[in-house]
Amino acid sequence: MKALILCGGTGTRLRPLTHTVAKQLLPVANKPILFFVIEQICAAGITDIGIIISPETGAKIRGVVGEGRRWGCHITYIWQEKPLGLAHAVKTAQSFLGRDAFLMFLGDNLVQGGIKHLVTGFETSKAEAVVQLKEVHNPQQFGVAVLGAKDRITGLVEKPSKPPSNLALVGIYLFKHGIFEAIDRIEPSWRGEWEITDAIQKLIDLGYAVTAHRLEGWWLDTGKKDDILEANRVILDEYTRRVNRGFIDTDCSVAGRVEIGPDSKVVNSIIRGPVCVGEGVTVRDSFIGPFTAIGDNSVLESVEVEHSVIMENCRLYNVGRIQDSLIGDNTRVQQGDLRRQAICLLVGADSQVMV
Ligand code: DAU
Repeated sequence: MKALILCGGTGTRLRPLTHTVAKQLLPVANKPILFFVIEQICAAGITDIGIIISPETGAKIRGVVGEGRRWGCHITYIWQEKPLGLAHAVKTAQSFLGRDAFLMFLGDNLVQGGIKHLVTGFETSKAEAVVQLKEVHNPQQFGVAVLGAKDRITGLVEKPSKPPSNLALVGIYLFKHGIFEAIDRIEPSWRGEWEITDAIQKLIDLGYAVTAHRLEGWWLDTGKKDDILEANRVILDEYTRRVNRGFIDTDCSVAGRVEIGPDSKVVNSIIRGPVCVGEGVTVRDSFIGPFTAIGDNSVLESVEVEHSVIMENCRLYNVGRIQDSLIGDNTRVQQGDLRRQAICLLVGADSQVMV
C-alpha cells in the first residue's frame, strides 16, 4: 500500500507564520507536525509515500523532509499547481498511486495512537473507502458524516451550516481505485474546490461500501494558533521525558519532565515541565512554565514564559510574562525604554499583538 500526504494549500489562517513556513512544518514540541505524520505512516508499515506540495511552500518542505532516508521510507514529491481541493490533490497524484489501495493523510493533522490498526486488513476488505471519524462540538468546521448500520456511512457533507451529526471527518482516509471514478464525476463546491467529501459521497451513490472507523483518542487539526498551542500541550504532555543533554547550573530549579537539548545552558532559572528546550538554547534568570517549547538557538533572559511555542533563533530579553503565545523564527522581544510609556513595534503583515 502507498500513502499520500497532503501538504499543498496556503495556510492563510496561520499567517504571519505561514508567510515563511509551511503550516505542516510548524513545530509542536520542537518537531514539525509533518514528521509526526510520516512517523505514523512508517510505523503502519507503509514506506512508499507521496507528498503533495504547492509552489508557495513545496521547496521548503522538500528541503526539510528530504527523500525519507531518516525514516527508512521513500518519498516522492507531487506538484499541485493550485490548491483546488483535496479531491483535486488525489487526482494530481493518480500516476504515483497507480491501481494500489492507498492511505491519505492530511499533513496538518495529528492523531493519538497511530494508524496501523486502521490500515491492517483494508486491502482485502469489501470497503472501497474507510474514513476516520471523531465526535466534535463544532461540526460546522469540518466534513461531517452520517452513520448507518454496521459502521456503513450513508451520507457526507463538507462544512454544513446545519450539521446532520457531530461526527467530523478526521483527515485520514483509506481508498481503493474506485475513488478516481468518483472524482471524475464531481463538480467543484461552493468554495471552488473539488472536495474529497463529495467524492466519497459519490462513491456511496455509485453503490460502493464506505465504512467508518471511530477515533477514540485525541485528534488535533492544527489550522489555527490555538490549535498549535493545544497540539503543543498534548504532545508535550504525552511524550516529554526528563533528559538533560545540555548544562544546568546549581542555581536552577528544574522540576518535572524537562528535555534540554545538546549545547543548551540553563542558568539561575526555574523550569517546570513538561517543557522541551531545543539545541544551543540559553535560558538565564528566567521562569519557564509548563507546556512550553523553545526552538533551537534561542536566547531567553529575564523572562517568564508559559504555555507557549517559541520557535528557532528567537531573542526574548527582559519582558514580563509571556503566555499562550506563538512566536515565529528569528523574532526579538525586549523591554523598551521605561521612561517612555509607549510600545515600540516592528511587526510584519498579518501579525497579532495583544497588550
Ligand atoms: O482537518 C479535517 C478536515 O480537513 C476535514 O474534516 C474536511 O472534510 C476536509 O475537507 C479538510 O478540511 P480543511 O478545510 O481543514 O482542509 P484544508 O484546506 O486545511 O487542507 C487540509 C490539508 O490538505 C492541508 O495540509 C493542506 C492540504 N491541501 C489542501 C488543499 C485545499 C492540499 O494539499 N491541496 C489542496 O488543494
